[in-house]
Amino acid sequence: MKYARIAGTGSYLPKRVMENAELEQMVDTSDQWIRERTGIERRHIADDSETTCDLAEAAARNAIEMADVSVNDIDLVIVATTTADCVFPSVACLLQSRLGITNASPAFDVQAVCAGFVYALGVADSFIKAGNAKTVLVVGAETFSRILNWQDRNTCVLFGDGAGAVVLKASDGPGIHSTHLHADGRYEELLHVPEGVSRGYADMQQQAYVQMRGSEVFRMAVSKLSEVADETLKANNFDESDLDWLVPHQANLRIIKATARKLSMTMEKVVVTVQDHGNTSAASIPLALDVAVRDGRIKTGETMLLEGFGGGFTWGSALVTF
Ligand code: ACO
Repeated sequence: MKYARIAGTGSYLPKRVMENAELEQMVDTSDQWIRERTGIERRHIADDSETTCDLAEAAARNAIEMADVSVNDIDLVIVATTTADCVFPSVACLLQSRLGITNASPAFDVQAVCAGFVYALGVADSFIKAGNAKTVLVVGAETFSRILNWQDRNTCVLFGDGAGAVVLKASDGPGIHSTHLHADGRYEELLHVPEGVSRGYADMQQQAYVQMRGSEVFRMAVSKLSEVADETLKANNFDESDLDWLVPHQANLRIIKATARKLSMTMEKVVVTVQDHGNTSAASIPLALDVAVRDGRIKTGETMLLEGFGGGFTWGSALVTF
């Protein structure tokens, strides 16, 4: 059997940085509240002219360069996003064309909000294990700023834009040991953008914005992330002490700390970027991964747990040896 191994990582952040102080001018909030409740200090925001595919392309090119593969070796492109450029084609198809991939291999988007990257990684892993792909580009990319109500302090302070990518190659050993994906669709009311193409829009300004009951989402996230971590370790006969790194979805420093505590991991073994990126939804895990690979923290042969939780609810994890 073949395994999927990460051959390269990449990321991209829009140039514009929005500090918490700027948000103080827009809504009734404070730098202190945002830092204490979330750990966020700043986030990057895409220019009006920059789309999700632009961010995805920049991250993908970095990952492809590190993996040292030719673009026409890529036989599957998966983009995890909630903020596609347009209704269709998918960002994955747009990206395939931008990168000059002309081998007619499949390309599609995965929509699982903040769990999107682990979902996409799980799908890619299945393709490789089944022998249906050998070199897969997996991207998490978002322009979440486009679906925020900048007058709603409950949500607008939390999110940012960005993209992260990995190139997976078929290999004789792990790589990805296993992925564990879950959803429970009964909680739509707690976290959603309730309007859209088929339901229509409530008014002519087409206001399709994130709405969240934060504290309820918080409780659910902590509990499900802890469950899926246990499930992943058990499935692989691993112990918490076998983990070199935790690379979690970056929504809230308190959620990250709670998850690390449950895994008995010190914060030195946890990759944290939420202070600089905010919550970039599907982009947050591959962005954090790329930061820690490029600054030399995550080294070849080390084992890490990736995990994410998002709207749906959706959640999942991947146990990966780099
Ligand atoms: N500035 C100042 N005060 C605020 C702000 C703000 N930006 N936002 C909310 N408040 C107020 C609230 O109105 C509330 O005031 P009240 O007590 O007078 O009603 C008070 O702060 C406390 O609100 P809580 O919601 O209880 O605060 P909490 O400690 O839970 O923190 C937060 C809120 C940061 C949103 C937290 O609940 C959280 O991180 N939730 C999970 C987010 C998450 O993981 N989402 C999943 C992924 S996202 C996705 O999939 C799209």
